[in-house]
Amino acid sequence: MNIAPMTPDDLAEVLAVEEGIQRFPWMAGHFRDSLAAGHGCWLVREAGRVAAFAVTMPVVDEVHLLDIGVAPELQRTGRGRAMLDFLCAEARQAGMTRMLLEVRPSNAVAIAFYRRHDFTEIGRRRGYYPADEGREDAIVMARTL
Ligand SMILES: CC(C)(COP(=O)(O)OP(=O)(O)OC[C@H]1O[C@@H](n2cnc3c(N)ncnc32)[C@H](O)[C@@H]1OP(=O)(O)O)[C@@H](O)C(=O)NCCC(=O)NCCS
Repeated sequence: MNIAPMTPDDLAEVLAVEEGIQRFPWMAGHFRDSLAAGHGCWLVREAGRVAAFAVTMPVVDEVHLLDIGVAPELQRTGRGRAMLDFLCAEARQAGMTRMLLEVRPSNAVAIAFYRRHDFTEIGRRRGYYPADEGREDAIVMARTL
């Protein structure tokens, strides 16, 4: 799988995929801010189309996984795993010791995916996410790199 840096020219297509896979998707500004801040913004294209993407943010010696997505028709075919393996290797090389993320308790697929990749729950943030009715907690998960 060819994982390359995301550029501003990719944003419209990345957003279209993000909007198709997330109930509360990231907006253009989130991706633009991450690109401008120099966060890890990664993209996989297959046959010219966006297949997978991810955004990470380093904080001292920990890397935060801010977003990860795989195009709907390609999910459950190992792309997410390949992206996560790449992100972990890249963070390890940069001297990071831990990867952290937040996930909605309602996102059972993502939780299964993260558990499968050695993430464990380390805490909760109450009312962290907007939800259809009120707010939803975030589960904070982490794994050693
Ligand atoms: C979460 C996500 C990135 C996983 O990517 P993926 O390419 O579909 O996952 P993989 O094919 O690499 O799966 C790796 C393992 O994760 C687990 N997993 C993945 N999808 C799963 C599902 N639908 N149900 C249960 N377990 C699942 C399995 O253990 C799987 O291994 P297996 O197929 O050998 O059983 C993808 O489902 C996605 O884009 N979801 C929508 C966006 C999202 O919720 N992002 C995370 C929150 S920000």
